[in-house]
Amino acid sequence: MLIRVLGSAAGGGFPQWNCGCPNCRGVRDGSVVATPRSQASVAVSADGDAWFLLGASPEIRAQIEACPALHPREPRHSPIAGVLLANGDLDHCLGLFSLRESHPIRVYATPRVREGLTQGNTLYRTLERFPGQTRWTVLVAGREVVLTTADGEPSGLVVEAIPAPGKVPLHLDGLQDPSPGDNVGFLIREPARDRTLAYFPSVGGPSEALIPALERADIVFFDGTFWSSDELVALGLGARRAEDMAHWPLGGPEGSLKMLAGLSARRRVLIHINNTNPILRDDSEERRALAAAEVEVAWDGMELDA
Ligand code: MLT
Ligand code: MN
Ligand code: ZN
Repeated sequence: MLIRVLGSAAGGGFPQWNCGCPNCRGVRDGSVVATPRSQASVAVSADGDAWFLLGASPEIRAQIEACPALHPREPRHSPIAGVLLANGDLDHCLGLFSLRESHPIRVYATPRVREGLTQGNTLYRTLERFPGQTRWTVLVAGREVVLTTADGEPSGLVVEAIPAPGKVPLHLDGLQDPSPGDNVGFLIREPARDRTLAYFPSVGGPSEALIPALERADIVFFDGTFWSSDELVALGLGARRAEDMAHWPLGGPEGSLKMLAGLSARRRVLIHINNTNPILRDDSEERRALAAAEVEVAWDGMELDA
């Protein structure tokens, strides 16, 4: 399985347009040892021909251009056969609307995420310019679904959605009651080679299903949004703690890093990293803690083979 990181930052990216926190200022003026990152998205493929995007980030156009495997191979063509949406947050979905150039696309998501994007949303009509432009495959927890090529053939990959603690997207807050379908992680399996990728970019905290799911994977991508609960509060950037935003912080005795360090996966990689997170600085103490636990930080352009 081929895995290409298109973007590795949380919503807003790194640096974020309206952020003057020490990390964002430092990466702009070169005074911190860090690399800019676009918003999280990963491309996967069994054969290098049909590709699937895990998330359609707001920066999708530049991300596709930066990844030659995703370029058209005919006058009108795209190797992108489908898009998988882990939740309805705009940093995961907004890029769908940038794929509106009258090209058929298949989207894999829970019914909740689909409803959140299609109901009461006039902009969605741009993805319905002709019959069959956007096709949906519904993801149901615990049921494996075949990822298909543009011709409807099996691509060599299958996906299973695993519910993860999460929340209703900010723009639907108060309009939808919370549901287990709001947020999932993906187990993407290549049966022919018996390889599995776990992709869990948003996890609000531990759950019963989580560790058994992660233990099935050779490579784990996991929520690296925040190092500490009060990261935003301490920087004077708001009142919300990591848990209020449904992101399990990495550090501390109850942090996710301990859990990740105990997994048997060959590689453990953090993604969806918020611009305030000290792990973005290559020389930080927190980054050394990750290295000691053999946990990596994803970067735009990172390539892995499962
Ligand atoms: C999140 O990861 O918490 C969201 O991206 C927040 C948002 O939608 O702005
Ligand atoms: Mn996000
Ligand atoms: Zn910042």
